[in-house]
Amino acid sequence: MTVNTLILGLQWGDEGKGKIVDALAETSEAVCRFQGGHNAGHTLKVDGEQKVLHLVPSGILHPSVHCVLGNGLVISLPALEKEIVELEQSGINFDGRFYVSGDCSLILPTHIAIDQVRDKSEGIGTTGRGIGPAYEDKVARRAIRFGDLQDWQALQPRLEKLIAYHNKVLVHLYDADPVPLETVIDELRAHQHLFQKFHCATQTLLRGWVKENKKIIFEGAQGSMLDIDHGTYPYVTSSSTTAGGLSTGLGVGPKHIGSILGITKAYTTRVGEGPFATELFDENAAQLAKIGHEVGATTGRPRRCGWLDLKALETIVFINSVTSLCLTKLDVLDGFKEIKVCTDYDDDGSPIYTTLPGWEQDISGIKEFDALPKSAQDYILFIEDFLESSIDIVSVGPSRDQTIYRN
Ligand code: IMP
Repeated sequence: MTVNTLILGLQWGDEGKGKIVDALAETSEAVCRFQGGHNAGHTLKVDGEQKVLHLVPSGILHPSVHCVLGNGLVISLPALEKEIVELEQSGINFDGRFYVSGDCSLILPTHIAIDQVRDKSEGIGTTGRGIGPAYEDKVARRAIRFGDLQDWQALQPRLEKLIAYHNKVLVHLYDADPVPLETVIDELRAHQHLFQKFHCATQTLLRGWVKENKKIIFEGAQGSMLDIDHGTYPYVTSSSTTAGGLSTGLGVGPKHIGSILGITKAYTTRVGEGPFATELFDENAAQLAKIGHEVGATTGRPRRCGWLDLKALETIVFINSVTSLCLTKLDVLDGFKEIKVCTDYDDDGSPIYTTLPGWEQDISGIKEFDALPKSAQDYILFIEDFLESSIDIVSVGPSRDQTIYRN
């Protein structure tokens, strides 16, 4: 049995994956991302200091852990550079342990311009990072990839054609300003050193590691309900955020995934537009938002809040072949007298709730399941029972030590 673990968010992102990946990375040899880009935002609290990572896998904080950005990502070179510089300034070393696939599609300034201007009319509420337009070019087979930075002569005519096309879209479809070709070329040239330093045939690297039985974490970004195929389309991101995305986004087949850890908050949040059956608009929503600090890590937008939707999670657990669960931010429910969970929908699609008693006490310092108040234990057991999957990890606060490990 392979020792590798896939870690996925099961909701609309922001489930607290960063903290869990960070904790599990301590005993791993590599952490690899397989989809998305710098639309992700992993907030970690390490030694009392808050760190937000967008592109670099959370494993980078552990000096002996190798980190990979697989072929399935879309990469903004300035965003990558900024993150590396900031992390290096806080003493983190990237040399010989950070690898970027040459097959990653690049996010260009025109992608960002198109994303921002288009979202105004389409109203998905994207992060405005150019993610969708970059994936469009990938699928349309005209993307500029990280590995293309090796050969400027071959790249130049392709770039000219692509930027001319993007500018037609900007000017004629959206009545927006064009982006000068030189701006794009300058940006790519200014970051050429990233290619020299971090470019890698990551599929081959990964194959070697798998054969050597290295302990690898595959780190999902965003959440399953934002999946381009299985999410709340069209209010989704443009990548495969579910388990299937790992094999295409890193070139590692499914049999090399040992376990699949699905992460869900003890309630639900969503940033951006789109359906959210259990969304609350009352004082409970305000309480969840306030206690849970529910503000987007990437865009700073307030997150919409609601009760846990077990009916939706049931489907997502199946799609991902989840082998065990991690429940995060359970402490945010500390002040509630009653807690609701959606266990079905009526004919109109409205949630049908089961009401469970709250515990009305601070659990943020508790380290063991048995020490939790009875109603908190019952809440966990109810979810476990409904989803037919064991909850092995419970997070009761942002710090590494505010984590209860069960099985
Ligand atoms: P995009 O990924 O920027 O195209 O945005 C599409 C949708 O996914 C929007 O609703 C975003 O708010 C959402 N989204 C993208 N990345 C994240 C994330 O890391 N956490 C939460 N929502 C996200």
